Amino acid sequence: MIDAIGRPQSVLVLGGSSELAQAIVAKLVPARCRTVVLAGRESERLSEAAERARAAGADVAETVAFDTTDIEHHLAFVDQVFDRFGDFDLVIAAAGVLGTQGVLERDPVATASLLTTNFTGLAAAMVAVAGRLRHQGHGRLIVLSSVAGLRARKVNFVYGSSKAGLDAFAQGLGDSLVGTGVSVMIVRPGFVVGRMTEGMTPAPFSTTPDAVADAVVKGIESGAGVVYVPSVLRWVFAVMRQLPQLVWRRMPG
Ligand SMILES: NC(=O)c1ccc[n+]([C@@H]2O[C@H](COP(=O)([O-])OP(=O)(O)OC[C@H]3O[C@@H](n4cnc5c(N)ncnc54)[C@H](OP(=O)(O)O)[C@@H]3O)[C@@H](O)[C@H]2O)c1
Repeated sequence: MIDAIGRPQSVLVLGGSSELAQAIVAKLVPARCRTVVLAGRESERLSEAAERARAAGADVAETVAFDTTDIEHHLAFVDQVFDRFGDFDLVIAAAGVLGTQGVLERDPVATASLLTTNFTGLAAAMVAVAGRLRHQGHGRLIVLSSVAGLRARKVNFVYGSSKAGLDAFAQGLGDSLVGTGVSVMIVRPGFVVGRMTEGMTPAPFSTTPDAVADAVVKGIESGAGVVYVPSVLRWVFAVMRQLPQLVWRRMPG
């Protein structure tokens, strides 16, 4: 159970090799998170992430095979994980790909694949997770959304729309869970300087994985429903969303 000062003792990560998720786990383990289960596609990065959690002091740090696009197996996958490891205080939905807009705009298969990875498949997994959290009567689902979903930009509207879908889904899911003991926290980072954005010019108000992790931990402790990283983006995007379309279209990439 999440303790009186908001510290979870067990976490399941969907997208276990994610840099942002790993930064969050690195803060949770020293704060007495004892069970870390990293669900993802098999890779060295995934197994090294589990090794790091073990070295940091987790009693249990395991990897399990998970692909967001493997939708028909999500229910059985989630049941197996909860049956094997017990209750989870925290589930982090971190899986996602940025894609290359120039390719996506011309390739319907690539576009559908990105939307499935980031939205349809992950949302389907969240349905299965929510079922088990509802059953255990406690827990928090952290969804790594993005400010890119608040208003799609022409330079990355495929990714942006996948995040818009995920964000709306997470909002509705959170509302549907009120009174069950389970809650949802949506995290909306801006540009994070890291693996996903390697080689790109940082956008204004860019941030780091460590800052995202700090904001997430703070959000868990305070019971926040939505977290912006950096927090000023809440106000920046309140304005951006109201800009007339003509102005928005002329915004630099
Ligand atoms: N970095 C940013 O600027 C930024 C900003 C806002 C929001 N976000 C969101 O934050 C989340 C984490 O991003 P990150 O920065 O940590 O990027 P990352 O290090 O590239 O992590 C992305 C994760 O998604 C996983 N993934 C991709 N396709 C998958 C699939 N089909 N099934 C299962 N897992 C899959 C990757 O696994 P593999 O190792 O197998 O590829 C990896 O674990 C993403 O949802 C991203 O959209 C990132």
